[in-house]
Amino acid sequence: MPRIPSRSIGMVLTDPPYGIAYKTGMRKDRHHRFCREIEGDRDLSALERAAPEMMRVLMPDSAACVFMAQETLAQAERIMRSAGFEVVNRIVWDKGAHTMGDLAHAFGKRYEVLLYCAKGRPRIRGRRWPDVWRFPRVPQNRLQHQNEKPVELLERAVESLSDPGDMVLDPFMGSGSTGEACARCGRAFMGCEIDPYYYGVAEARLMG
Ligand SMILES: C[S@@+](CC[C@H](N)C(=O)[O-])C[C@H]1O[C@@H](n2cnc3c(N)ncnc32)[C@H](O)[C@@H]1O
Repeated sequence: MPRIPSRSIGMVLTDPPYGIAYKTGMRKDRHHRFCREIEGDRDLSALERAAPEMMRVLMPDSAACVFMAQETLAQAERIMRSAGFEVVNRIVWDKGAHTMGDLAHAFGKRYEVLLYCAKGRPRIRGRRWPDVWRFPRVPQNRLQHQNEKPVELLERAVESLSDPGDMVLDPFMGSGSTGEACARCGRAFMGCEIDPYYYGVAEARLMG
């Protein structure tokens, strides 16, 4: 990110490590890649380092949309505000089906949050959606990343908060789902990924 020129990015749309040390308990094959934690998921330090850079590279009056878990939401909001963003909306991504979790102690979790943060005063393009967005999760047999986000959900964010031809940045791109949404919506895309395996997945998805 330090190599990206200041005020050159039309929108940031990203899904950083949530700081919850997530790994799935649902697979029989315990050696599967999805049973390992993703890079940097012990805390929110990756977001803490990226947020001031997001502020620097974004054009005036533009948006940074950041996925976050329920557990670490308050901390993530503090990080975005400290970097100079206004937290405008907590958009609820209703996944339509809940996770298992602690069956005796906690209710099933069915949503994650997309924090819509503003640098200045971005404008909403097209339809003004309410703040609950319902999109099904990517089916297990099509998942390329354990935290993969559905492209249709990302398309809604991209179309609502950027213009055709804008450069959209995802500093934590995983399997490249944001890039695919940008290609479908006519936006340019720039992404970063620290894990060489997922970098390869994204490259194949976007360049192949
Ligand atoms: C929650 S996942 C993103 C999943 C993505 N939204 C998708 O649909 O495939 C976060 C990604 O950030 C990557 N990551 C963690 N720390 C990073 C860093 N410092 N720089 C770049 N990528 C990083 C992880 O390897 C992981 O693939």
